Amino acid sequence: MLGTAAGGGLPQWNCGCDGCATARRTGAVRSQDCLAVSADGAAWYLVNASPDLRSQLLATPELAPAPGTRATPLRGVLLTSGELDHTLGLVTLREAAELSVHATEPVRAALHEAFPVGPLIAPYAKTHWHTVTPGTAVELAGGLLAEPLALGGKRPRYAAAGPPGERRTARGSGTAPGGAGTAAGADRTDWVIGYRFSDTAGRARAVYAPGVAAWTPALDRAVSGADLVILDGTFATDDELAERTGGARTSRGMGHLAVEDSLPHLARHPGPRYLYTHLNNTNPLAHRGSPEAVALAPVLAAAGAGVAEDGTLVEL
Ligand code: MLT
Ligand code: MN
Ligand code: ZN
Repeated sequence: MLGTAAGGGLPQWNCGCDGCATARRTGAVRSQDCLAVSADGAAWYLVNASPDLRSQLLATPELAPAPGTRATPLRGVLLTSGELDHTLGLVTLREAAELSVHATEPVRAALHEAFPVGPLIAPYAKTHWHTVTPGTAVELAGGLLAEPLALGGKRPRYAAAGPPGERRTARGSGTAPGGAGTAAGADRTDWVIGYRFSDTAGRARAVYAPGVAAWTPALDRAVSGADLVILDGTFATDDELAERTGGARTSRGMGHLAVEDSLPHLARHPGPRYLYTHLNNTNPLAHRGSPEAVALAPVLAAAGAGVAEDGTLVEL
């Protein structure tokens, strides 16, 4: 786990709340959501490319190039959304000789139109874009299997659909199917996805789902029989953001099922180890040792759950 915070990280640069102030003082910081996964320990894939990617890569010895070479163990990037906290790091990867990026159709389109990072890095790195489809497994290097599952229809704000009649039309080259601002991207459920990873020998199964709009039957299937489930922990409660910032936005309204609302589902699937990630700086669980985190710890433990930490390596 390279990073475990939601957009903004912990502390957030413009936030002086108690939690952010404590993080500044103690150094107990969190970088933005990012995972690296491997089936053989040699070929690695990033899941999401966070704005903190450079320091995350430098802090991860497994991802260092072989001595005396530019042979990186990184074979590609799998995106779970087109959100800026999941994609700004693609710019950081422009020094790569070649780069494979896997994304769903609407996300791939958004990254060529509304946020054109695809065309932007193309002159720097030979980029191979792959469309992933929920339900269709992707075979990756090193014996890694990734099965995408649809988790939500929330578009990034930069790709918000305009009012009818003002929708942008897909232009062009054919590299951007689906048109992020077009009707084709309007009612998709795969703007946000998760992955169920396994090795081709079927020995280990891990689910990565840092954005969960609602608990779906597909998520039930993915979680069942998994060894490890890394799950959306953006907010602890549905009204957390409203309570802490005085705004009106609920967790659910932002496309994130709060921890209090996903916990009952974990009880239906005992067995896997659950780790909450993508923690917002408003979430008391993001702050180790906060009174709320201490009070919730036994509740989480009873469900086989805990809180993910930056830099944790889990071997299955
Ligand atoms: C999300 O996870 O919902 C987004 O990253 C929010 C944002 O725009 O930062
Ligand atoms: Mn996010
Ligand atoms: Zn704060």
